[in-house]
Amino acid sequence: MSDFILDCKGISKSFGGVHALKNVDLRVKRGEVHCLAGENGCGKSTIIKAISGFQPQDSGTIEFNGKVYHALSPVVSIDLGIQVIYQDLSVFPNLTVQENLAINTVLSNKTKIYSHRQQREIAKKVMETLNLDLDLDARVEQLHVASKQLIAIARALYAKANFLILDEPTTALTRKEVDRLFEIIRGLKEQGMTILFVSHKLDEMYEISDSITIMRSGEAVYTGPMKTLSEEDFTRYMTGRNIHLVNDKQASGRIQTESKPALEVSDLSGPGFRDISFSVQPGEILGITGQLGSGRSELCNTIFGVTCATKGRILRDGKPVNIRSVKDATRNGIALVPEDRLTEGLFLPISIMENITLVNYPQFSKNGLLVQEEQEKNASGWVDEIHVKTEDSRLPAQTLSGGNQQKVVLAKWLSTKPKVLILNGPTVGVDIGAKYDIYQLLRDLASTGMAVVVASDDLAEVVRLCDRSIVMRSGFMSGEIAGAELTVENLTRAIM
Ligand SMILES: Nc1ncnc2c1ncn2[C@@H]1O[C@H](COP(=O)(O)OP(=O)(O)OP(=O)(O)O)[C@@H](O)[C@H]1O
Ligand SMILES: [Mg+2]
Repeated sequence: MSDFILDCKGISKSFGGVHALKNVDLRVKRGEVHCLAGENGCGKSTIIKAISGFQPQDSGTIEFNGKVYHALSPVVSIDLGIQVIYQDLSVFPNLTVQENLAINTVLSNKTKIYSHRQQREIAKKVMETLNLDLDLDARVEQLHVASKQLIAIARALYAKANFLILDEPTTALTRKEVDRLFEIIRGLKEQGMTILFVSHKLDEMYEISDSITIMRSGEAVYTGPMKTLSEEDFTRYMTGRNIHLVNDKQASGRIQTESKPALEVSDLSGPGFRDISFSVQPGEILGITGQLGSGRSELCNTIFGVTCATKGRILRDGKPVNIRSVKDATRNGIALVPEDRLTEGLFLPISIMENITLVNYPQFSKNGLLVQEEQEKNASGWVDEIHVKTEDSRLPAQTLSGGNQQKVVLAKWLSTKPKVLILNGPTVGVDIGAKYDIYQLLRDLASTGMAVVVASDDLAEVVRLCDRSIVMRSGFMSGEIAGAELTVENLTRAIM
């Protein structure tokens, strides 16, 4: 038997004029954890969809367990023991946790009639395999994105997979949850499972992967062991250029210290947080750090009017404002880029352009009519600015890769030109190069006098990007760190 459980040879795939995959070879050894890396839009999800049979390749062959396939179908692929957890999770939001967990097993048993009790037993077993503790009767749409991710993983595991593909499984997870996932992955590996793993986080790749394939612009440019690959080489293979990760924030002169705070929050309490006070000056970039459950997302949501405060005040430019809805917040110049962007931020079937300009239609209409030219100009400006990888911004948003979809959501809110811009996990799921583009963009925006608030549990990001950060723990504000004190070590200590 060959060492390789999966051996893809010369895989090509085009979408119209876009060559998403150009003659790609991908070989994965039996029983290893193999990382698939590369910038947003380089073709990672596309090759995964060929392996899962979801979207077969145009040419090339896939050899699995010694048998050669010219095109796989989802049924054959699942039958072979291949299970994929897609980037968008593919959980069913309007079903309960129990139904989501049981659905695969129920479908593959081809039982037409199954009882609630049977379903519950299956769901319980699935939860046990992962040590999960979720309310089986909760509707999945009400859960945090991390729980959705765990449900997708649990479900795939229970479907008796021998080859598990995880397309960016850790984007929405906190460090603690990532640790748990990696523990699970190591356990599965011990039992002989092969794992193909997509990630943008270098430290995670080194931690969990035996080998790696790096893709760039639809081609596989490196494949080999993970350990011996240096960070510099990794970045160079990925981007085709040398990127220096310097701390290049230049706050001096940017922060308007003389003005009234653009946003001030005083003794604010709401669902999930209590007695929070802070202020942000125009031109300043403020971080809100804290682990999942610390209340940072909840605080953002209340400031943006998604939920209502139960106590305290919000002030804009020194004046108290009454924010009871998103409309109130928008009217007061506040915008929020949400955390769960793939489900909250984007209309997949409509064009990239419309997605960007949707929130400020009035800006592009004259006498009630839409001036399309203006709209196109605005949208393509943003597409250039944050490097959204697309042939044409009139294409539906669903033709974009996951990371590029994230950039579109960002553009959408930036185009409203808010006075206060709140971003929750602004670079989740985007590649290193794009990350730095986004940091630069946020600094440029701050220089124009915008107040930027970044909620994030990526501590390196907070250090690199923010002038100052407040720290939240169990719903309370536990401190504030600024200037030279703002280091990953200090933040780590403060959030625990
Ligand atoms: N249905 C489609 N129609 C047109 N173009 C598509 C379609 N699906 C993917 N593409 C294009 O193919 C290229 C590769 O996309 P893919 O989703 O594989 O990227 P990726 O490596 O997974 O990126 P990310 O890290 O952002 O998820 C992109 O340029 C994308 O726009
Ligand atoms: Mg992808």
